[in-house]
Amino acid sequence: MSEKIALGSVADLPAGRGIRVDYGEHRVAVFRVGDAIYAIGDRCSHAEASLAEGELFGMEVECPRHGSEFNLETGLPGSFPATKPVPVYEVIVQGDQATLVIEDGAG
Ligand code: FES
Repeated sequence: MSEKIALGSVADLPAGRGIRVDYGEHRVAVFRVGDAIYAIGDRCSHAEASLAEGELFGMEVECPRHGSEFNLETGLPGSFPATKPVPVYEVIVQGDQATLVIEDGAG
C-alpha cells in the first residue's frame, strides 16, 4: 500500500535547496533540480542531521553536519563519514503538479 502526498506546483518548489515533508514516521527531503523533483530520506544515515537543510551540488546534497554527500537518485553517500544509503522516494509529476509517493515500510 502507498500514500500519495501532494507537493503542489513544481514551479513553486524552491530550486537549489530542500524542503522537509513529514508524514507519520517518514521524514522526507524534497529537492527540485530544474523541472525534476527528487525525494530522499531526510535523516542522514550517519547521525540523523536534516538533509533538507543541506546544500545542493548538482545531483548531490551535502549533509549540513559532517559533509557526506548523498545522491538524489540513488540515496547513496559518495563520501565519508556516512556509509549507508538513505531511502529514495518516488515523485510523480503530472502537468505541473508533483506528488510524493510513500510506500509502507520505506523510510
Ligand atoms: S550527520 Fe550527516 S554526515 Fe554526519
